[in-house]
Amino acid sequence: MVTSVSHTLFVCTTCASVWQDGKRIGESGGQKLLNKLQNLAENWELRDQFPIQAVECMSACNRSCVVAFAAEGKLTYLFGDLVVDDSISAVLECASKYYAKENGLLPWSERPEPLKKGILAKIPSLS
Ligand code: FES
Repeated sequence: MVTSVSHTLFVCTTCASVWQDGKRIGESGGQKLLNKLQNLAENWELRDQFPIQAVECMSACNRSCVVAFAAEGKLTYLFGDLVVDDSISAVLECASKYYAKENGLLPWSERPEPLKKGILAKIPSLS
């Protein structure tokens, strides 16, 4: 499918942080998720059409790790409870399905396993 609509995969890099005395200890789970997604996305066919963008927080902190799919004229999805190593390929697979749908609709049965249970929001498009 060819589309000119811009898409973004948001990844929270603060999720699953360990804090001590107000400072983060080591690398957060969200940062690990972002790094692994970026590595895998180097060979992803939608790499240029569906950029990955780091964000500091999407206010779903108790459901880490958290990602979101957004695009003009499509539903916006927020997913949580993602375990880093179990969800990398699933996130890109689900993003590809989202990209292919005109309205972005991702029914439960079509989502890969790691993104079936952790859905936190499905927000209508502006149009
Ligand atoms: S820390 Fe990740 S959503 Fe808030």
